[in-house]
Amino acid sequence: MNRHTDMKQSALIVGLLAALAIVPGTPVGAVESAPASQAVPDVSRIAPTPPMGWNSWNHFAGRVTDADIRSAADFLVSTGMRDAGYVYVNIDDTWQGKRDASGVLHSNERFPDMQALSAYIHSKGLKFGIYSSPGARTCAGYEGSLGHEAEDARLYAAWGVDFLKYDLCSLREDMKKAKAEHPDDPDVTKNMMIAAYHKMGDALRATGHTIVYSLCQYGVDDPWKWGPSVGASMWRTTGDISDSYARMSKIGFNQAGLAAFAGAGHWNDPDMLEIGNGRMSADEYRTHMSLWALLAAPLLAGNDLSKMGAADRQILTNREAIAIDQDTLGKQGDRLYQDGDLDVWSRPLSGGRVAVGLFNRGESPRDVSIELAKVGFPGGARVRDVWKQKDLGRRSGSVTDTVPKHGVTLLIVGPQ
Ligand code: GLA
Repeated sequence: MNRHTDMKQSALIVGLLAALAIVPGTPVGAVESAPASQAVPDVSRIAPTPPMGWNSWNHFAGRVTDADIRSAADFLVSTGMRDAGYVYVNIDDTWQGKRDASGVLHSNERFPDMQALSAYIHSKGLKFGIYSSPGARTCAGYEGSLGHEAEDARLYAAWGVDFLKYDLCSLREDMKKAKAEHPDDPDVTKNMMIAAYHKMGDALRATGHTIVYSLCQYGVDDPWKWGPSVGASMWRTTGDISDSYARMSKIGFNQAGLAAFAGAGHWNDPDMLEIGNGRMSADEYRTHMSLWALLAAPLLAGNDLSKMGAADRQILTNREAIAIDQDTLGKQGDRLYQDGDLDVWSRPLSGGRVAVGLFNRGESPRDVSIELAKVGFPGGARVRDVWKQKDLGRRSGSVTDTVPKHGVTLLIVGPQ
């Protein structure tokens, strides 16, 4: 790299830091404990329970069109998913076109009329979600919001957007450059990122519209610790999921220890659902749904709803699994114990009940047990099997079930 490029880069970084209102060397606390005018926003009413809906990325990726989104809206209604709680219809990356001379972003030719699309989605009793990046470019190389945060937030509000996923993408490159420029500042990248997320959070709030703010930065620098301070309703805790048991289970079971950071209005997000995309067995998809429910995770389906079979629909719309996810106590579950391939998780529920997941991560069926005393019922409890949709009656001591390879038995244990 020659000196001229170096100087150009320096100027760019100083410009970026200024755009994000960051002074190199600013201690983390200066961003984390915002001044009174930026007091921690109360977003608890925006997403009192984990948001549920559908997102285009996992199936359609960069090919998504207006017709795909309308079809997803239609099928959310006709499959009963909307009535089961899946209300957000979220376009992910690749809807963006160019900015005009006045800085207004336009959608591309695959989305000829966003206002009309939004009206269509709303006419079905659904909500409309969109995607952008705090960087200049999205992960797929489309136009991001850097330097246009307020304009973009106003545009979303004018379109009737109800949900924004804000994906780090190219800001990461700028963060790397800033780090190279300020090697002695351990927090320069973190501060830059938090300021960027703060900026859009403020811009969304300034529109006066209720917009779920969903951070996507792959869990870098513990977003569960600062997400609420930027006005986020949810934040990704991990890199991207894929439609494989290995990846889904690695992400899901790695969520242990994060329960304290979730609660009404702010949720850990282990990424969207892959149920129905075809590369996992029904037992594996039940594990996916059960884990996400125990984790109080946002439930954003990511399959082609027009081709969804009955088995996948039953998994996605199991009312009792959804009720665990949406439980009003708002407490995320956690690992109770692990014994080799056997992994047992629990989640406190309203009404003094507890959800228990008996997971078998091994390659052949295994008996998995839970001692009822370990989940607060030393004198016994009533037990219900969520996937078999069966009351197991009053039990004492322990409950044991034979759990298939990569499968789960999901129980609700309660006093009544
Ligand atoms: C990142 C995100 C994904 C998806 C893509 C789109 O990888 O983590 O969820 O939004 O970008 O480009």
